Amino acid sequence: MSAELSYKDRVVIITGAGGGLGRVYALEFAKRGAKVVVNDLGTASSGEGADVKAADKVVNEIKAAGGVAVANYDSVEDGEKIVATALNAFGRVDVLINNAGILRDVSFGKMTDSDWDLVYRVHCKGAYKLTRAAWNHMRDNKYGRIIMTSSAAGLYGNFGQGNYSSMKMALVGLSNTLAQEGKSRNITCNAIAPIAASRMTETVMPPDLLALMKPEFVVPLVLYLCHESTTETGSIFEVGAGWVSKLRLQRGAGVLIPDITAEKVKENWAAVEDFSNPTYPTTPTESFSGIMTALNNPVKVSIAPVKAAAPAAAAAGASVVVAGYKASNVFETIQKTIGSNGAELVKKINGVYFIKVTQGGKSQTWTINLKTGNGAISIGEVGKQDVTITAADEDFVDIMTGKLNAQTAFMKGKLKINGNMGLATKLGNIMQKSKL
Ligand code: NAI
Repeated sequence: MSAELSYKDRVVIITGAGGGLGRVYALEFAKRGAKVVVNDLGTASSGEGADVKAADKVVNEIKAAGGVAVANYDSVEDGEKIVATALNAFGRVDVLINNAGILRDVSFGKMTDSDWDLVYRVHCKGAYKLTRAAWNHMRDNKYGRIIMTSSAAGLYGNFGQGNYSSMKMALVGLSNTLAQEGKSRNITCNAIAPIAASRMTETVMPPDLLALMKPEFVVPLVLYLCHESTTETGSIFEVGAGWVSKLRLQRGAGVLIPDITAEKVKENWAAVEDFSNPTYPTTPTESFSGIMTALNNPVKVSIAPVKAAAPAAAAAGASVVVAGYKASNVFETIQKTIGSNGAELVKKINGVYFIKVTQGGKSQTWTINLKTGNGAISIGEVGKQDVTITAADEDFVDIMTGKLNAQTAFMKGKLKINGNMGLATKLGNIMQKSKL
C-alpha cells in the first residue's frame, strides 16, 4: 500500500470551488495539508449572477475541519486577481486547478454570440488568464502542477454544445503546449474529462446513475496528478465513478498519393482510413514523421547483374525476359517468388499490376497477376489491371533494388501510378520478400 500523498504547505488554487467538483477538490487538498484558495464567482450554471456565499461556505467548511483556506470571489476572467489572493495570503502558487465552468447549451442554428462569448470567457479565457498569471511564479519556483478541465463533449463533440465543446477542446491544446513549455521547469499540465454528479449533470442523468458518479470519485486522480512525486504531463484522462483511463491520438499508416487529386483520394480511401498499422504521435515532430516516413521509405532489394536474354531459371511458366530491358531481371525474381509463394501472395495482395517499362522511346508492359489462382507473371497486358505503374527501365530497376527511393521517384515524376495506390505500395513488399 502506498504512503498517503501529502500536500503539506502546498498552495493550491481551485477555481469554481464553491460547489460541485471544485468543492470536493478543495476539501481534500486542505485535509491533506494544502493551503487552498477557494475561488468562486457564485453564478448560476448559465453563468448569470454572482454570490460570495459559494466560496465562503467552502472556506468555512475547511476551517471548521482545521484546514487553511481563503476565499476569492473574482471571475476567472480576472485570473491575476485570483493569483494575487494566493500570493498575498500564502506567498506562492504550487497547484492550479482550472475547474470553473458554465453551460449555455443550444443547437448551433440557434446559438447567439453571447452564448458563444460567455462560454469562451469562462472556460477558455478564464483558464488562460489564471494560468498565465500563475505561470511565471511557477517558472521562478521551478515547480507547478496544473489541471485543465476538459470534457467528453469537447473530445468527441456533443449535440447542442458547440460553444462548450470548442472551449473544452481548446483547453486540451493549451494543456499539451504547456506540458512542453513547462518540462524544463518542473511544471506539469494535464487535462481531465470528468463525469460527476453536480448541478451540471443532475438534470441529464437518472438519480441511480448520479449516485454512482460522486464527485469524490474524480478527486483522487486530480490529487495524484498534482502531487510533487508525479511527473505525468501532457496527458488526457477520462475519469468518473472510480474509473480512470488515459487517452491518446491514434494515426493510421496513411498512404502517399503521388500527383494527388480528389479522384485518387477516393480510390485510396480504404488506405487513408486503415488503422491496421497505427502509430501514436505525441508531438508535431512525430506527426510530421508520418509524411517523412512515407517519402523516405525505400524499397530495399538488390538484384543480380543483368544477363542477356535468358530463359527464366527455376521459375514456372514462360520466360518473362525481354531482350534489352534490364527490368527483366526484376521480373524473373518476381516470377520465382510467385512460383514458390503465389497462393499466399494472391491472398494478401488481391490485385493485378500492369508494369509499363520505357526504354529509348519504346515501352514494354508486364502483367503481374496476384488476384487469381496461384498468381502469374507474363509479358504484355493480360486481363484487367487494378493499377498501372510506369517507369523508365533504369529507374524501375533502381527503385526495385532500393537505389532510388520509390516515393521520391513518384514526387519527381519518375514513377507514375494510375489506379490503386495501396497496391502499388505492396509491390515493394513482394520484392523485399523475394530476397534477390
Ligand atoms: P458546477 O456548476 O457544480 O460548478 C462550477 C462552479 O464554477 C460553480 O460553483 C460556479 O459558480 C463556478 N463558476 C462559474 N463561472 C465562474 C467564473 N467566471 N469564475 C469563477 N467561478 C465560476 O459544475 P461541475 O460539474 O462541478 O463542473 C466543474 C468543471 O467540470 C466544469 O469546468 C465543467 O465544465 C467540467 N465538467 C463537468 C462534468 C460533470 O459531469 N460534472 C463533465 C465534464 C466536464
